[in-house]
Amino acid sequence: MYYEKDIISKWNSEMYDCNETDTNDVEFALSVIGVEPKRILEIACGSGRFLVPMANAGHNVTGLDFDEHMLNRISRKISNTQNIHWHKSDVINDEWGTGFDVVLLAANFLFNIVSDMDYRQAQELMIKKSAEALMPGGHVLIDYAYTFYPEKWFNNPNPNIVWQGTDSEGNFGKMVLLNNTYDKETGITKFIRRFEMTLADGSNLIQEIPTEKHFAAIEQVREWLKRAGFVIENEWGDYHGNPISENTHRAIIWAKK
Ligand SMILES: C[S@@+](CC[C@H](N)C(=O)[O-])C[C@H]1O[C@@H](n2cnc3c(N)ncnc32)[C@H](O)[C@@H]1O
Repeated sequence: MYYEKDIISKWNSEMYDCNETDTNDVEFALSVIGVEPKRILEIACGSGRFLVPMANAGHNVTGLDFDEHMLNRISRKISNTQNIHWHKSDVINDEWGTGFDVVLLAANFLFNIVSDMDYRQAQELMIKKSAEALMPGGHVLIDYAYTFYPEKWFNNPNPNIVWQGTDSEGNFGKMVLLNNTYDKETGITKFIRRFEMTLADGSNLIQEIPTEKHFAAIEQVREWLKRAGFVIENEWGDYHGNPISENTHRAIIWAKK
């Protein structure tokens, strides 16, 4: 399993909140889910970027994530705690609960899964577990970064700085992606996540995490949904509601159990 060291993980959770401030995906998801209050389960809710606005919109929301530093950031963003819940949970190995109207596999989670399981199997498992967590007639919303040309996205030998900055404890760091490769046959992309830290006490810390992920083709996701008993009701390629095409960069799927 490719975990970050604790001090890096905490720094990362703060950088996440500073840098991931887009709300287009959250607003789009809210418009698809509708205004009638629903019981929503978000898989890998992180620091509540989806969870909090969904609760503020009147839905009853539950979030699961295994990163305590991310989860710890949720409580400071909420005023009303009645309709928002979160639990520390490894979504691969732990139970999700049942009786939900909507399961969110959003924020590119199909490509952000951390587990020891074969990546493809883990992706399909997320769709199967969504079906198990839903009421009959409930929906899964999948939203992940998508392109017809993954080789152009992933075959990149140049270092890519994802973010850098100083956290509230004075630790400076940089997360860099290195040596990104993509195998067209298998859909497997490999890269190194390198953290370069200068800690508040002046010491340096470097951690390199070799990472391997599977880029799921849309046809593959449709097949997994079918196998899990879902019927796709809608698909979009961006947050303007355009269809998936060679010019769009998301696959957003709304499917009914
Ligand atoms: C890119 S963040 C997205 C967070 C949030 N959904 C958002 O939109 O801001 C991905 C999250 O997936 C979580 N994650 C990855 N693998 C996980 C697993 N096996 N079990 C639980 N959480 C996981 C990470 O801890 C991280 O918080």
